[in-house]
Amino acid sequence: MPLILETVVTTLSAAGTMHLVPFGLIREDEDFVLAPFRPSPTIENLAERPYFTASAPSDVRVIAGVVTGRRDWPVVDCDTIPGKRLADCFGHAEFEVAAVEDDPQRPRYRGRMVHAVSHVPFIGYNRAQGAVIEAAILSTRLHMLSPEKVLTEMAYHAIAIAKTAGPAEREAWDWIEDKVAGALGRSGRVLDGTSCPR
Ligand SMILES: Cc1cc2nc3c(=O)[nH]c(=O)nc-3n(C[C@H](O)[C@H](O)[C@H](O)COP(=O)(O)O)c2cc1C
Repeated sequence: MPLILETVVTTLSAAGTMHLVPFGLIREDEDFVLAPFRPSPTIENLAERPYFTASAPSDVRVIAGVVTGRRDWPVVDCDTIPGKRLADCFGHAEFEVAAVEDDPQRPRYRGRMVHAVSHVPFIGYNRAQGAVIEAAILSTRLHMLSPEKVLTEMAYHAIAIAKTAGPAEREAWDWIEDKVAGALGRSGRVLDGTSCPR
């Protein structure tokens, strides 16, 4: 399996409308492949402007927020491409699309990194941040997974949240809990124990 980096990708339409969304970037040699499922505004934007930016947010609420309908995060202009990056991030990289492999379900855009910068020192891994990322991905696949699988995985990720989350990670987790509860028609949460996972 290739290395995949979970990042926040931004693209711009020809009219300048930005689309910001978490995506996994697949490393291929020196390049990174962006593979959005259709339909996606990212695909439409890339047809108009073949550039994308990957930002690594220091606050995982950006990732949990976008997949729970909170899309308004501060951005600034990129340094070398027509694009935007997250204003608050450990670092970001700017890509131009070097090749496209079209596909009816999931086209692949091979991104060539033209610029990369660190903005904030990275001094350690946090398990709760990892758990929020996993739960955020889970929350985009609810239509494909059984409720039992979703709740079993949420219960596992909740352990890291309970043990290692700061306020931002806990808030991000709660947004995902609400989305999962809504989709599964549950009233309680996995973490606070008001309703145990089946
Ligand atoms: C960390 C993370 C990584 C993701 N990676 C991908 C990906 O590589 N491809 C994809 O189609 N969706 C991915 N998703 C799901 C999309 O972010 C989600 O479906 C989003 O709503 C798609 O946005 P769009 O249709 O507005 O482009 C990922 C979600 C998360 C939280």
